[in-house]
Amino acid sequence: MQITSFEQYEENYKKSVENPEQFWGEVAQNFQWRKPWFKVLSWNFKDPEIKWFEGAKLNITENCLDRHLATNGDKPAIIWEPNNPDEESVTLTYKMLHERVCRFANVLKRNGAKKGDRICIYMPMVPELAIAVLACARIGAVHSVIFGGFSAKSIADRINDSQCKLVITADGAYRGNKQIPLKDVIDDALIGCATVEKCIVLTHVRTPVSMLKGRDVWWEDEVKHVNDICDAEEMDAEDMLFILYTSGSTGKPKGVVHTCGGYMVYAGYTFANVFNYQPGEVYFCTADIGWITGHSYIVYGPLSQGATSVLFEGIPTYPSPSRFWDIVEKHKINTLYTAPTAIRSLMSFGEEPLNGKDLSSIRVLGSVGEPINEEAWHWFDEKIGHGKAPIVDTWWQTETGGIMISPIATVTKTKPSFATLPLPGIQPILVDENGNEIEGNGVSGNLCIKFPWPGMLRTTYGDHERCKQTYFSTYENLYFTGDGCLRDEDGYYRITGRVDDVLNVSGHRIGTAEVENAINMHAGVVESAVVGYPHDVKGQGIYAFVINPEMHGEADLTKKDILQTVTRVIGAIAKPDKILFVSGLPKTRSGKIMRRILRKIAEGDTTNLGDTSTLLDPAVVDEIIEASKKY
Ligand code: WTA
Repeated sequence: MQITSFEQYEENYKKSVENPEQFWGEVAQNFQWRKPWFKVLSWNFKDPEIKWFEGAKLNITENCLDRHLATNGDKPAIIWEPNNPDEESVTLTYKMLHERVCRFANVLKRNGAKKGDRICIYMPMVPELAIAVLACARIGAVHSVIFGGFSAKSIADRINDSQCKLVITADGAYRGNKQIPLKDVIDDALIGCATVEKCIVLTHVRTPVSMLKGRDVWWEDEVKHVNDICDAEEMDAEDMLFILYTSGSTGKPKGVVHTCGGYMVYAGYTFANVFNYQPGEVYFCTADIGWITGHSYIVYGPLSQGATSVLFEGIPTYPSPSRFWDIVEKHKINTLYTAPTAIRSLMSFGEEPLNGKDLSSIRVLGSVGEPINEEAWHWFDEKIGHGKAPIVDTWWQTETGGIMISPIATVTKTKPSFATLPLPGIQPILVDENGNEIEGNGVSGNLCIKFPWPGMLRTTYGDHERCKQTYFSTYENLYFTGDGCLRDEDGYYRITGRVDDVLNVSGHRIGTAEVENAINMHAGVVESAVVGYPHDVKGQGIYAFVINPEMHGEADLTKKDILQTVTRVIGAIAKPDKILFVSGLPKTRSGKIMRRILRKIAEGDTTNLGDTSTLLDPAVVDEIIEASKKY
């Protein structure tokens, strides 16, 4: 399944376009199925309806665990590096991981979970998080992992949207020198969640927590009541594997649905190829399992390929900005897959944190989540890879399930800030505003995909119409990514950023409408408009223009109140970096906010605001510009 030369890449690519079913049928042979498919693919992008490997039966955990036991049972599957470097790291071999997943799967059953039930997971980055995810998959329950930075309200919304029956959490989490009271947050969330019957709580920080009789049980007690034998549930290829909520241009996050067969094939195929993983190597993806990158490239992708995957609880700057490099040295990391925001943040500390660190084990570097600027690319290349490790700049999305456009390590010639070429099986096209294909090289447009791939989303949970509207209606017969893209003279792709109202803050996707809704919930606020602006470390920062005529005390205090409200409603990750109080917003006569103008002001570029004469009140623009200069 591994592509090892550029000729082979070209051959594979050609074949994947000319005969996709044969291509993917062959890729899928590298996995373990209980029953084969009778049809590789049936699809239309109109409804949309997409089915891969129809009729096939499998369980993804048999591919991630059982099939490695005979030959690789004693090989490390997960190496856990704790937040505190003085604490021991933990290695789980495939045998141990299998045992623990089976045991916890039995705990889930004992607590009433069965195939098809939705289970919410809100946990720190500890091995038990991976175990919980895999245990759900083992019994055919659908996991919905929620990132630890989301608020009680966000969790409740997500739990209610998918009617979760069970919640798996921990007493708390460590993040650098902070402690986050996860169970407290869950307790607040569950006040409004009628469908949740049980909550399983892992002891991690051992902070006092409330344990409600009949609902809350301790992980450690539960595992004592069950054994570690649990046959995997037989799943249909198109049965749901998980839901992952993500932001779009409307106020409400949507539950992206991935299914068992196609997702497994795609996560495994892309992992093996993009990173050119070699047996015995140690692979470290720094993402959180709360995001798609963690799902596909900490858990399912690497484990399906029998790889050793490092799971890190902490943050890059704790206890010092040397932490990543200490981890690389300690665990002899061969592949480091991280985000541009982390690279930029570490870059800002200069070279001192790198002094004396042995990074010679590094063979492949990876970047994901946002466009990587050239400066960060070169720093990563020179200081971390010593010019010898190819950087795979991987473009993809929660909805795509796995990497779509990316170099293949050691195969594709890289180019700073370019995601380079589509993987075999992926057919990107650029279109203009009207959906006409822009052909040739040296062109820019909106990035769409014109043919299905196994890892693509099937629906948005509970609202298929929304899936259709969001991804398949903008342009007929195309999947629309929401990204702008350049194809240069060499046919290389460079993603230029979102073309919709979605922000990318430190690689986290946040809808401007969501942030506006949250700000508007603050008592004094009449209206607000949120745009992104270039931020040195975060890539994009959040700039909020807020109308709040009656301040409660000082303006600075009111700003803090608003930040507090946003933290309550969404979570700290959505806090605006800048709040500017204004008396009005630039609107068209039909009442639409002209974000283009606000974006320019936020960028500090007020020279060419375009035609403002169609505005309801053109004077408001001058006022905002004046105020922004004083900020
Ligand atoms: C952006 C993360 C440029 C893009 C896997 C996409 C990127 C959104 C890259 C998806 C990259 C992701 N270069 N931009 N290599 N990777 N993006 O769903 O705007 O959290 O649409 O998935 O991140 O974010 P998501």
